[in-house]
Amino acid sequence: MKLWAGRFQKETDTLVNDFNSSIGFDARMYKEDIAGSIAHAAMLGKTGIIEEHEAEKIIEGLQAILADIKAGQVEFSLENEDIHMNIETMLTQRIGDTGKRLHTARSRNDQVAVDFRLFVKKEIPVIIKQVMGLEEVLIKKAEANLDTVMPGYTHLQRAQPTTFAHYMMAYANMFRRDITRLEDCLERMDECPLGAGALATSTYPVDRFQTAQALGFKKPTDNSMDSVSDRDFAIEFLSACSILMMHLSRFSEEIILWCSWEFKYVDLDDAYSTGSSIMPQKKNPDVAELVRGKTGRVYGSLITLLTLMKGLPLAYNKDMQEDKEPVFDAIDTVELCVPVFSAMLDTLTIKTGNMRAAASGGFINATDCADYLVKKGMPFREAYMIVGKLVNFCIKSGETLDTLPLKDFKAVSAIFDADVYQALELGTCVNGRKVYGGPAKESVLQQIASIKEFLEER
Ligand code: ARG
Repeated sequence: MKLWAGRFQKETDTLVNDFNSSIGFDARMYKEDIAGSIAHAAMLGKTGIIEEHEAEKIIEGLQAILADIKAGQVEFSLENEDIHMNIETMLTQRIGDTGKRLHTARSRNDQVAVDFRLFVKKEIPVIIKQVMGLEEVLIKKAEANLDTVMPGYTHLQRAQPTTFAHYMMAYANMFRRDITRLEDCLERMDECPLGAGALATSTYPVDRFQTAQALGFKKPTDNSMDSVSDRDFAIEFLSACSILMMHLSRFSEEIILWCSWEFKYVDLDDAYSTGSSIMPQKKNPDVAELVRGKTGRVYGSLITLLTLMKGLPLAYNKDMQEDKEPVFDAIDTVELCVPVFSAMLDTLTIKTGNMRAAASGGFINATDCADYLVKKGMPFREAYMIVGKLVNFCIKSGETLDTLPLKDFKAVSAIFDADVYQALELGTCVNGRKVYGGPAKESVLQQIASIKEFLEER
């Protein structure tokens, strides 16, 4: 018999029963649901809304159910629709009529809101920890490659020389922001909706501060209608996850490019790549490709929730039951991707010779050549024009700036001297860029120190 059978004269159609039910996925929140119920029951007892001994009996019953679920001894029923009604029904079956007092001053609307928040709150630190692990790998790779010169690109055209360490720290900064975004989101969602009831609280002397504290929230939410209809916390979480995945996906794309024969900057470990069923020579970057692909799933979750919420009047609407699967899927996807990506990066071999060779072509030191003239007094625009002419000349004559005879330099400007070759050296170009944030070894060491400090604070 349904909990609401009093109002109804017919059984729910089996089709509707199946359609309405969310137990298939929200059973995943059983721990949170029981924790919420225990906090609620304790508060009911303490405030005298129910007898203390009744509260105790309810709490014991809930603890026994928790143990049984953990031991795999509980079967949930579709008939009881969701995790909230499954557990409540089970409680009453076990402890009798006292179980019927648990739902006093509560609705499934505040119940599901608190369960869902507790669930997301618990997963955020898991993801943060994983991203911190990735930061460690980036630091390790950077420290080992402070002098590994490689081309930096704009428009995927060789632009200016940088180092693999500088490159790694670029990603380390993105992931640091991802961590702080998750932390901010955790901070903002740290308010407890329990006690909001269906939407307008209740007439009982409910102590929302007590339940908030018992459940580890900073405070109760300020408005009961908002409490039961807000899913911003999940949307904000999915936004942070989407941005994190976007960073991982860009990085994956670079790794995919870098291990192609066209670049060959890196070699994936055999354990982190796959072969082809037909082409014997192939070694494919499947992990990076899957991370890039799975990014789409996480974006999908974000868009699902944004779309789900955009037309909903206050307060609770059943549409909101659709909020959980996308969030669960995003959590599973992110928690799957970050560690495997970290391990792939950790085991990657850097082909320093290929990186340097690539940096030696493509006139990557042309800006440095212009800067050479500027340092000798020429205005930058003029120097830029002269070097442009030189590059054009080199392309036609099959030279590079490094190999061009001094007389050809002199032909475009008398300012050029033999020291130009030193100025054009890749090492000079990189280590001359000591600006805060730049690729010079000393600048990159500062960047590494800054990320290390960030990680140590956590
Ligand atoms: N299973 C529901 C959900 O996930 C719980 C809340 C149901 N509330 C209601 N008024 N029908 O949203």
